[in-house]
Amino acid sequence: MLKTVALTPADFNRWAEHMNRQIAESGRDGRPFFSPMEAIEFASIERRARFENGLAKPVFEPTWLRMWAIEGPDACLIAHLDLSGSNIPTEQHRATLGIGVEEVFLRQGYGRKLMVQAIEFAQHNHIEWLDLSVFSENKAAICLYLSLGFEEVGRRNDRFRIFGRSVDDVTMTLRLKG
Ligand SMILES: CC(C)(COP(=O)(O)OP(=O)(O)OC[C@H]1O[C@@H](n2cnc3c(N)ncnc32)[C@H](O)[C@@H]1OP(=O)(O)O)[C@@H](O)C(=O)NCCC(=O)NCCS
Repeated sequence: MLKTVALTPADFNRWAEHMNRQIAESGRDGRPFFSPMEAIEFASIERRARFENGLAKPVFEPTWLRMWAIEGPDACLIAHLDLSGSNIPTEQHRATLGIGVEEVFLRQGYGRKLMVQAIEFAQHNHIEWLDLSVFSENKAAICLYLSLGFEEVGRRNDRFRIFGRSVDDVTMTLRLKG
């Protein structure tokens, strides 16, 4: 199995390359959509600033960020998971989670490996809730989240129209304490 690495501000370029590859797979060749963006470029000045600033902040400081990735051949990243804190100071007991594995590496346990690592990090840092959004058609992701104890807490039908197709958005959350 390939190894997990915790990303640092120096990893921006290889992270952006992976994100560009991975998000381009959304809705491709009959796969479900998993991103609301029809076109996106991750290697931008704004994203670099958010990446570098967020990773440098302590957990619980608004807009903090932590990322883990699976390192593939040639030090390329093939999967990522990000945890981020809100920009609102009164929401710092929660974190928002995002995840993606490149298609060639699906169903090899990397998604679960990253999720378990993020949950352990959150527990260790006394974060009390993990939140995420997932499209209702994304059965693979929903199965993974349900298997780890996430519950559906809300749904916005017809939230996005991606290339003209209506997509329902589900909010899921995991209670870590209490
Ligand atoms: C969701 C995702 C992260 C799962 O990653 P993965 O590495 O393929 O998942 P794993 O191999 O670790 O499998 C973990 C669990 O996910 C679920 N799962 C994964 N693929 C599945 C599929 N095609 N159908 C049903 N369940 C699936 C299963 O519960 C599986 O557990 P099991 O192997 O014990 O049955 C991956 O499909 C992905 O990155 N998709 C594209 C991006 C995306 O959807 N991101 C999430 C947006 S909210």
